[in-house]
Amino acid sequence: MKKILDVNSSKPFIITAALPYANGRLHIGHIVEYVQADIYARFLRLAGVDAKYYCASDTHGTPIEVKAQELKISPDELVQKNHEHNKTVLQKYGVNFESFHATNSSENKELTEWFWGVHLSKGLLYTKQIELSYCNNCKRFLPDRFVKGNCPKCGAPDQYGDVCEKCNGTHKTIDLKNPYCVICKKSAGRKNSEHHFFKLSAFKEPLANWLSSNKNLQSEVVNQVMVWVDQGLDDWCITRDEPYYGFKVPGIDNKYVYVWYDAPIGYISSVANASGSVEQGLKKWKSSRITHVIGKDILYFHFLFWPAMLHGAGLQMPDNVTVHGHLKWEGEKLSKSRGTLIDADDFLKLTSPEFLRFYYAYHLSKTMNDIDFTKDSFLKVVNTELIANIANYCYRVLSFCSTKLGGKISVCDSSDVQKKILEISERVLHSYARFDFREAVRGILEIGSVGNTYLQDKEPWKVLKDDEDLARKTITTAVNISKIISILIKPIIPEFSRSLEDQIGAGVLSNNDINFKYENKTVSGARIIFQRVDSLEINTGDSFSSVDLKVAKILSVDNHPTAEKLYVLNTDLGSENKVIVAGLRKYYSPEELLGRNIVVVANLEPATLRGVKSNGMLLASIDKKGTPRILSPTKSSPGDDVFIDGAVKKAVKQITIEEYSSLGIKVFKGRASYKSSPLKTIHEEIIADAPEESLIG
Ligand code: MSP
Ligand code: ZN
Repeated sequence: MKKILDVNSSKPFIITAALPYANGRLHIGHIVEYVQADIYARFLRLAGVDAKYYCASDTHGTPIEVKAQELKISPDELVQKNHEHNKTVLQKYGVNFESFHATNSSENKELTEWFWGVHLSKGLLYTKQIELSYCNNCKRFLPDRFVKGNCPKCGAPDQYGDVCEKCNGTHKTIDLKNPYCVICKKSAGRKNSEHHFFKLSAFKEPLANWLSSNKNLQSEVVNQVMVWVDQGLDDWCITRDEPYYGFKVPGIDNKYVYVWYDAPIGYISSVANASGSVEQGLKKWKSSRITHVIGKDILYFHFLFWPAMLHGAGLQMPDNVTVHGHLKWEGEKLSKSRGTLIDADDFLKLTSPEFLRFYYAYHLSKTMNDIDFTKDSFLKVVNTELIANIANYCYRVLSFCSTKLGGKISVCDSSDVQKKILEISERVLHSYARFDFREAVRGILEIGSVGNTYLQDKEPWKVLKDDEDLARKTITTAVNISKIISILIKPIIPEFSRSLEDQIGAGVLSNNDINFKYENKTVSGARIIFQRVDSLEINTGDSFSSVDLKVAKILSVDNHPTAEKLYVLNTDLGSENKVIVAGLRKYYSPEELLGRNIVVVANLEPATLRGVKSNGMLLASIDKKGTPRILSPTKSSPGDDVFIDGAVKKAVKQITIEEYSSLGIKVFKGRASYKSSPLKTIHEEIIADAPEESLIG
């Protein structure tokens, strides 16, 4: 195995994936990376290598602070909620962390202060007055993600203040052309402030050495980063003004450590969390081979800042930083406005997590190429490659063995097939070791084909009548092929392998079992593990998917200035507030409404009702007397999605009141329902207090 990994030391591996921001939930694009690193870690462990996988929630920064303020909760609370959710979702996808920690942890605070102290003592930090973008309207400095304008390098419009999505170049917020405040959309001004800088400029040589000598790095990445290094590196501003959610700068009031300074330190903190102490964590870090897996959008941080921070703190630079491309959806970039940012948890309502793992592995090689998710290719890869080839082969063999041969296997025949399969297996292992999962999958599929052809040639079902011994030898060989498939595919779809292992009855298998030595045993049984997927019901074409129903909380109730039937409600939808005008004055007093949860159509075309603009509609059923009864999900929180099982929300654009009405959402079995599917949030189904079939509008 050492040969396969092309290394001669037995140092353990620390594998990390980029820490997901805890300001929201994971989408299926994120899953690419968490699965990619998981496959690698699982592969190494099967090869007998000490390999542990660490991650954490990235909890700091302005977006979290701003969002928490909007929601009127503390950033800690906001972060905790998303952290727990994301952790559970990753578990559902079989992503197996040694620790999934958080950057607002005590370990991370201690380590950040340690890094800071070392950098300071080595003269790598200095302070300087600088001019920053400032919004006079919001009365706050505008960090990179809160000011937009034209990229100073390539001119691309609507770029953030830190990096350009078009040319990948970095810049300062004040370099943007025609800057504006993202919060209030007013044009941004400038203001002076004193900040700490990290002397990135001093690291040109060590970075260039690392880039040119580290053979694990992708050449396409090295070439790109070398251009930046050659251009000369600017020192890096690593503090932020209030308001901010992050660590305070040691010894200074009103200044905070920039999120990207403490975020990668979170990798070590996660190791520390699992190791019992910061000291033990650092010790483990120093004696391990560090392998980061990241997306191409965060190259700058992982190829310049982070290695420089490590080097500056006397720690080794990473052994490997593997960079993947982005997931696209039917050829388009995932985007909120197009409704293609499919929630990772929602996706699991449609299909098995192992199918997505297999699909990603099928496409992942060590390149920055994007992966295009298409429904057609998903069905093809799952049904034809995984199920028809691999899973069916294993099932055919094991069920024949159990039903026709009493489960008893004898010895393998000495056919060429063994040699062929062992050769392909060797190639598969090498592919895994190079992060080339695409090739690994190709090899496994080839083994499936070889196995199928072998059975076709030997026809044990025919031979059985005249020569049971020979049939048994054939099946023994075929069972061994199933066993090898089970091992080789295990990093990708571990649940499938576990189930196969049970059926084969050989116990828990590892790379050492890639051989034809499973003989004179009894196979436990056969069971169909995967069912074909006929369609992927991502109801993006279905009209229900176009409506964005959300739980909102009524923050204030005012009488409409001129219309006596109307209230003007201010409502909290989690990430935003909306003013909604509703004709409830005859039926509810302000006290009855204040503080209640309601369900609103969040993407309804705004309408002006007697001079007041309404940005949504509240849903109510109408009882026998024609009285509206508001839908009030008491166990849910503002911003919770209201959905039906099987439909993935695709709130692409605003919808009209007619489009909403045409959905025919009505009362069914006492629940608000769409075509007999109950509307629900993650906490409850939505009760509707009105006769059956009453429409809800
Ligand atoms: N918090 C930072 C990382 C800090 S690491 C010290 C961050 N978070 S993120 O949530 O925005 O992204 C986490 C990872 O998911 C990144 O590596 C990013 O490239 C990856 N992906 C986000 N969208 C993706 C796709 N559409 N496709 C594939 N990977 C994607 O960046
Ligand atoms: Zn503003």
